[in-house]
Amino acid sequence: MSNKQFKVVITEAEPPYNDIKSIANVYQNPNPGTLPRDIFLKESKDADGILCLLRDKIDKEFLDNAKHLKVISTLSVGYDHIDLDECKKRGIKVGNTPDVLTAATAELAVSLTLAVSRRLIEAADAARNGEWKIWTPFWMTGNGIQNSIIGILGLGRIGGTVAKLLEPFAPENIIYHNRKPKNESKYEYVSFEDLLKKSDYLIVCVDVSTINGILFDYNAFKKMKKSATFVNISRGSIVNHDDLYKALSEGEIGAAGLDVTNPEPFPTNHPLFTLKNCVILPHIGSATISTREAMIKLSESNLINGLTGKPIVGPIQ
Ligand code: DGY
Repeated sequence: MSNKQFKVVITEAEPPYNDIKSIANVYQNPNPGTLPRDIFLKESKDADGILCLLRDKIDKEFLDNAKHLKVISTLSVGYDHIDLDECKKRGIKVGNTPDVLTAATAELAVSLTLAVSRRLIEAADAARNGEWKIWTPFWMTGNGIQNSIIGILGLGRIGGTVAKLLEPFAPENIIYHNRKPKNESKYEYVSFEDLLKKSDYLIVCVDVSTINGILFDYNAFKKMKKSATFVNISRGSIVNHDDLYKALSEGEIGAAGLDVTNPEPFPTNHPLFTLKNCVILPHIGSATISTREAMIKLSESNLINGLTGKPIVGPIQ
């Protein structure tokens, strides 16, 4: 009989999480991929803590079932998969992994913006497929950042870093929209309407837990400049992807870069995949080795600290 005090469920098979195993009886998903819901529910029935991922839905049904739960640690900065109100009611602590992924995710946002605006994927494909004939003045021309208006939806940790990284490219202006203006920001605060209308690059970095429903539908895309580039590194749930396809194919906006979609994985038969002016990445914002290592470390310490009464990093401490 083990004398370990806690029971923990870890939904991801990969990281060993040895520190948790030294203080808790651990059920860790033995297989790569999502832990099947019925097993997750069964194993969490008597769990004190869980370590989960974006793909695990922590809703009322789950929380009603996991009656002993004290701590939820998620291997992500986003927590839109967790019903925070229900956690609050039950006094469950929720930890996430902010800060450690800010730089990597902002780098990806800038890379994707440049890849779309300078048509990098399309151009590399053309070179590989023998479409590269002779140098002509306008072949594979795109738009630059210099003298453009960068619009950021969600000037938080990641959005602010994206703005800072783009400054040396000499845009004409960097504007942003948040629920309210940031006193300390040097960038220009505008309404959501103006962000749509004025941006040459609209980069969505917003924390979706502050948003209900879809922000980007056909109507919103129609308000944007016909040359505008739409980039989303936040969550796909705030975009109507059929409307995005319509807007791109009708020329209502110029191009799009998506690191996040709804659903994920994005169906390969979605018409957005047929468009050359749309680049879709498989949610790799935080995918650098050192970032993922730091996220794993923080998610592990959040769980251990939460169980042992020490401070954790997260929306409910
Ligand atoms: C997060 O952490 O929320 C990102 O979307 C994935 O790293």
